[in-house]
Amino acid sequence: MKSPKRHLVTSALPYANGPIHIGHIAGAYLPADIYVRYLRGKEKDVAFICGSDEHGAAITLRAKKEGKTPREIVDFYHKLMGDAFHDFGISFDEYYRTSSPEHIEMSQQIFLELKEKGIFETHRSEQYFDAEAQQFLADRYITGTCPKCSSEKAYGDQCEKCGSTLSPTELINPVSTLSGSTPILKETTHWYLPMQHHSEWVRDYIENGKLNGEQHHDASKWKSHVVGQCLSWIDGGLQARAMTRDLDWGVPVPGEEGKVLYVWLDAPIGYITNTKVWAEKNGKNWEDYWKNDETELVHFIGKDNIVFHCIIFPIILKSHGGFNLPVNVPANEFMNLEGDKISTSRNWAVWLHEYLEDFPNRQDEMRYVLASIMPEQKDSEFTWNDFKDRVNNELADIVGNFVNRVFVLTHKYYEGKVSNPTFDASSQFEEAQTAFKTIGEKIEAYRFREAQALAIQLARIGNKLLTETEPWKLQKTEPEKTEGILNACIQLVAALSVALEPFLPYTAKKLKTGLQWEGVKWDDVQISQLIPAGHAIGEMPILFQKITDEEVAIQVAKLETSKVQPEVEVEAIKPNVSFEDFQNMDLRIAEVVEAQRVPKTKKLLQLKLRVGNEERTVISGIAESYEPEQVVGKQVLYLANLAPREIKGVESSGMILMAENNKGELSLLSPERPVESGNTVR
Ligand code: MF3
Ligand code: ZN
Repeated sequence: MKSPKRHLVTSALPYANGPIHIGHIAGAYLPADIYVRYLRGKEKDVAFICGSDEHGAAITLRAKKEGKTPREIVDFYHKLMGDAFHDFGISFDEYYRTSSPEHIEMSQQIFLELKEKGIFETHRSEQYFDAEAQQFLADRYITGTCPKCSSEKAYGDQCEKCGSTLSPTELINPVSTLSGSTPILKETTHWYLPMQHHSEWVRDYIENGKLNGEQHHDASKWKSHVVGQCLSWIDGGLQARAMTRDLDWGVPVPGEEGKVLYVWLDAPIGYITNTKVWAEKNGKNWEDYWKNDETELVHFIGKDNIVFHCIIFPIILKSHGGFNLPVNVPANEFMNLEGDKISTSRNWAVWLHEYLEDFPNRQDEMRYVLASIMPEQKDSEFTWNDFKDRVNNELADIVGNFVNRVFVLTHKYYEGKVSNPTFDASSQFEEAQTAFKTIGEKIEAYRFREAQALAIQLARIGNKLLTETEPWKLQKTEPEKTEGILNACIQLVAALSVALEPFLPYTAKKLKTGLQWEGVKWDDVQISQLIPAGHAIGEMPILFQKITDEEVAIQVAKLETSKVQPEVEVEAIKPNVSFEDFQNMDLRIAEVVEAQRVPKTKKLLQLKLRVGNEERTVISGIAESYEPEQVVGKQVLYLANLAPREIKGVESSGMILMAENNKGELSLLSPERPVESGNTVR
């Protein structure tokens, strides 16, 4: 591994089907922005590429729901998202779009090159088809029960509950999301990527960082949850995956009517297109960034995108040949909001464009909090109260207070000129220098929370010095020492202005403007001597306004009032039965007189029931919801004439009826007022 000459950094292309929320930001955009700003601070050659993902069912289903065309949807959200990113200081070099002519051309070209190389297989097979809507059903056009975790809301491509990547044919009880009807099977031909042929090298790439027998990257720097998810997918057996779809919105498959590229083929190629678009505008050669082993490619994504970036896209890139593969994919986990999962459909989210409206010019406050709680290793949680605490107690009280005191005193005592270094601050400088150096190491290890905390440490060191020496008192007795202390503090403010740039770019800029100082390259930061004595500083505005309880209350109320109740997930009602069918079932009220666990089982209780003058034995699967002693004496609803069955060596006669809630807890059904045991239910 050579040390890289260039960096290509990407953030997942968000679907242009809804606004960006703070969970997206904490997942894939802010960490990338911090990383890139740091590299720029080191004057590295870096391209930061993103854009809108404008194809796929995510777009067309949204369009259908809003009664708009896909084009209208992507045009609207591309602009909304692009503006919000920009206004939040996410410093993409390019934010382009996959519905652009440049991208159609690039992805068709890559598809044709792959096809010519014989990378794909074509298969004629039966696929789910919605006869009502006259459309094949792939990806989000089809839902059903997840074969892995039994969630009833899995999509044809992915289960959002357990994160498994799926194919439509794996779904249990598939249903069309277009019409709600049960799909039929119909023949169609598609191009497939036979991923099973690639498992061996992919495993070596993920597990050992090896590619073509050579060391490609340091696999120990990959996050363990990323490696874990990839290996478990590979262990499950890679399968051929269709790379084309029978749809009319997408990149047309060259030479085919009615077929488009699979969105997960076209979208990552968007990274390449958008790099090329940027390069051409800036007099650069895009191939230097994609086809050169002196360039380091890093993809920032959320955890639901892992296998696409670590397995599928690398297979495509390597099969094609000549393209760089990522040296790391530091995926983040998810961030929750006020005790619940962020959800676009339930409108449970803090939308970035709304934050920017409600808190104008306070980007750094949100950037700071999101970086502090970034879900780097595990899921995390944002609450408005915590937002307030962190802004007030950390940004305002530590950073703001330190900088303010230094500026006030320098203006008061020295007419705004940096005082002389007549105080030995070597221990403070040493501590600060070490912290500063470690910021870089942490960023390079994708540990942005710790990196940011170290940047704030510079202000803490300054505050401590002020609190210990109290220059506002010392000035009268030891003016020379006071000068030196404030000189040291100015150096720390200058160091802060460099260190904070990746995290809090607006604040960093205010610091530099206030100091009337241009700053230096990251590697040139010698904290003890950043600004010479005599240098004139300017005014410093209040850096952080405190967040009030009222502002918190407004935001919490806004969340609660705009939340959409989820549609309840219930099974469809079964076809009608006749009254005779119903009467054939003998339903009774029975009383439980004895209960015991069935040995060696978790779920089963053996119950003795009194039904009128008779006693019946029933095996019932309620042991995870009830202890035996909780059910004795209870009246229950009993289907008396269900044919007896032998369960665990015991004859079970009839069945106890129960309801189940969404947590999976069972509930016995007892009569509202006392009823004699044995009486009929009708
Ligand atoms: N649009 C996808 C999502 O939001 C991410 C696409 S990333 C890319 O989950 F690599 F395909 F571009
Ligand atoms: Zn699942």
